Amino acid sequence: MKALILVGGFGTRLRPLTLSVPKPLVDFANKPMILHQIEALKAIGVTEVVLAINYQPEVMLNFLKEFEKKLGIKITCSQETEPLGTAGPLALARDKLIDGSGEPFFVLNSDVISEYPLNEMISFHKGHGGEASIMVTKVDEPSKYGVVVMEETTGRVERFVEKPKTFVGNKINAGIYLLNPSVLDRIELRPTSIEKEVFPNIAAANKLYAMVLPGFWMDIGQPKDYITGLRFYLDSLRKRSSAELASGSHFIGNVLVDESAVIRDGCLIGPDVAIGPGCVIESGVRLSRCSIMRGVRIKKHACVSNSIIGWHSTVGRWARLENMTILGEDVHLGDEVYSNGGVVLPHKEIKSSILKPEIVM
Ligand code: GDD
Ligand code: MG
Repeated sequence: MKALILVGGFGTRLRPLTLSVPKPLVDFANKPMILHQIEALKAIGVTEVVLAINYQPEVMLNFLKEFEKKLGIKITCSQETEPLGTAGPLALARDKLIDGSGEPFFVLNSDVISEYPLNEMISFHKGHGGEASIMVTKVDEPSKYGVVVMEETTGRVERFVEKPKTFVGNKINAGIYLLNPSVLDRIELRPTSIEKEVFPNIAAANKLYAMVLPGFWMDIGQPKDYITGLRFYLDSLRKRSSAELASGSHFIGNVLVDESAVIRDGCLIGPDVAIGPGCVIESGVRLSRCSIMRGVRIKKHACVSNSIIGWHSTVGRWARLENMTILGEDVHLGDEVYSNGGVVLPHKEIKSSILKPEIVM
């Protein structure tokens, strides 16, 4: 079985992290977002993943080469010369996706995180006999997503409305699809949207079916959602394999610590924290609801909440970071600095406090 991951897009909403790496390579719960997906695909027997890409393909491929071997899965690239939207890339990769077996293939948005119940999706797809299956999930704020109106009992999709201006329903497209090869006959090789052009057509032919995704789901392409997604992910990890989470009197709630990270005495960490490889958390540090990426040093008595600390940055002694502060890669924050929602671009040294949410260039 094959799969395509839509990797394009500049990831502007996740800047400054995406100034250092393409969005799918931004770490989430201590590993690049896209690895969560590739591992889930491999686990259900996918043998080849095609990355549909329009931006920095070398970076992605170099990085993934290592995992190709480790995971025993083929990873190839289909590169656009102009952004083809969310459907055009499927037409471009047509020859890679069709192998004559007639088997359906998966398509994933690269920025969604869930338990990836892909086996359940295969059963669902076989059961309805339509052309395409999509996963849907319920959200409180449907207007920023694709909204699906479906027949409850069969799952048949009656309407698909991308980013509706008025309320249509609260079940939204989760960005995980299983498509028959025949869907490719509906897509022209030009910039085109699967949500605006392809799905409404398949729905009109009564051949689009939606399955309500069991478990959690989040589009982690924006900082606030990234932090919420981390909470959901760690919660789900607690249920699936709690031994992977940190335990001991230093920790509150769900905390994921890479085995190579060092945590000194007198810290209080959690809930909902991920600490990546090679990090050093000095004594007396307080961390909650935050992601600390590879190689970061948090100095004594600093306090970090609701924030993302990018690769190889340092946070000074007694510093306080909160309210969606995001430090890009290699940022150095001085002792006692306060940041209230500062967004700091890579390779900066910050010596004075950031009192209100702003971008520091
Ligand atoms: N190759 C390629 N080329 N990929 C692209 C392009 C392109 O031109 N444009 C976007 N993508 C990729 C993005 O990288 C992402 O993985 C996926 O297509 C969806 O694009 P987003 O920019 O993240 O869209 P969205 O989050 O506003 O909405 C989409 O996702 C929602 C769920 O998170 C839609 O699919 C909605 O219907 C859906 O509800
Ligand atoms: Mg998105």
